[in-house]
Amino acid sequence: MVTLRSVVRGVGSYLPARVLTNAELSTLVDTSDEWIVQRSGIRERHIAAEGETTSDLGLAAARAALAAAGMDAQDIDLIVLATSTPDRTFPASATTIQDRLGIRHGAAFDLQAVCSGFVFALSTADKFLRSGSHKRALVIGAETFSRILDWTDRTTCVLFGDGAGAVVLEAQEQPDGLAGRGILTTHLRSDGRHTAKLYVDGGPSLTQTVGHLRMEGREVFKHAVGMITDVMNDAYAATGTTSDDLDWFVPHQANKRIIDASAEKLKIAPEKVVITVDRHGNTSAASIPLALDVAVRDGRIREGHLVMLEAMGGGFTWGSALIRW
Ligand code: ACO
Repeated sequence: MVTLRSVVRGVGSYLPARVLTNAELSTLVDTSDEWIVQRSGIRERHIAAEGETTSDLGLAAARAALAAAGMDAQDIDLIVLATSTPDRTFPASATTIQDRLGIRHGAAFDLQAVCSGFVFALSTADKFLRSGSHKRALVIGAETFSRILDWTDRTTCVLFGDGAGAVVLEAQEQPDGLAGRGILTTHLRSDGRHTAKLYVDGGPSLTQTVGHLRMEGREVFKHAVGMITDVMNDAYAATGTTSDDLDWFVPHQANKRIIDASAEKLKIAPEKVVITVDRHGNTSAASIPLALDVAVRDGRIREGHLVMLEAMGGGFTWGSALIRW
């Protein structure tokens, strides 16, 4: 028996050149390298240059993913860009990337689920591809969170960074069951009661401004591990797998303590966990494809491996995706 699956054909990423270290941050706000590392695991993050936009970052990541897949932009008929920091309120930055790739066919749109954006975008593209309506998708996570941070607020500005990552998905007939390649299952959740714990205090309709990120970090932390592990358990239940079957766990990179606690709760061995939060900070929707690119390029994630992705973010939103690479 065969089934139509969304197979990952290539991964790419892009980081702005400018690196902002904890030491440099401690000259801007009352903080220290020690506090940031101990509470979050973050040592440095990249910051977009003046005039460098989310679509610039996303375009560079998309080109790298296409090169890794050995594909031409013309092969792509769907672009889903996960971002909470688009270039403009509209049009979607996905259409800017589509235009700059020279693609005049298919569809391109943005999707907003904050830090869960990449998992939501992957799940959405997967449904398009498995329906047969589209053949090859670029799923991109790209963010310039530096533009929505309050650089005087030490409780938030030390945690985030800029960057972009992308994967190319292709609809392929694959053997049914766990052995076949591609996205095996995705699980998405939202609960809008938690808005006040993590939000941006501006927007076109509410204030006609862009606004700044506001977060009750301790409250987010309290919910994160339970939500993350719930959707991972949903993935295990849907596929009859357990943590023992995983080759790699690639979590959203918000905070090393949240990642460690989630892995421990689900008994995932530390050597199976891909960590990039130390170098990237929290890049929201970009963090998972950035981490995937690191682990694919250094040879850890290889064809046939079972890879679990998860994310949790503003909304709250949270989700998981289990992939046979
Ligand atoms: N440097 C030094 N001290 C600081 C800093 C800082 N940058 N920020 C806060 N502090 C102080 C606080 O003022 C507080 O001082 P007090 O005890 O005198 O009041 C103390 O440090 C402890 O603050 P807490 O908030 O309790 O610290 P906590 O251990 O909870 O760590 C953190 C804070 C890192 C934000 C943590 O709660 C966390 O990671 N939460 C989850 C955040 C997260 O993952 N967000 C992303 C979600 S994804 C998305 O959708 C964007």
